[in-house]
Amino acid sequence: MDFVSNIVSRSLSSDASGRDWACAASLGVAALGISYFIVAKVSEFGFLCAKKKSKGNWVNPEIRKEDSKVVDSCDIEDIGEKKVFCRCWRSALFPYCDGTHNKHNLETGDNVGPLIVGRKKSN
Ligand code: FES
Repeated sequence: MDFVSNIVSRSLSSDASGRDWACAASLGVAALGISYFIVAKVSEFGFLCAKKKSKGNWVNPEIRKEDSKVVDSCDIEDIGEKKVFCRCWRSALFPYCDGTHNKHNLETGDNVGPLIVGRKKSN
């Protein structure tokens, strides 16, 4: 550390040579680089921790986790009178509701329920 403080004090004095200023500038750039690297790594670590923590809070706990996105489609002609679609992500019949949302709501205090799609009743 004496080496660094010696260069800095010599650079800041009025009789500093160009070589001293260049050395001090190099040290400053190196210090900025190291600081940037440390901040970037600490931020990345925090991001990774947040990502791991959120895993337990996933909306979808287990349905088709091997897929990057769970997408289902249903033709309107196949709906019949009505279909009940799961929105709690806990149904064994997903994408259809099997009533598991009631158990989930009791256990967690949540208030999720299905989406019911039906045909308008004709007059
Ligand atoms: S089981 Fe998921 S909404 Fe009913």
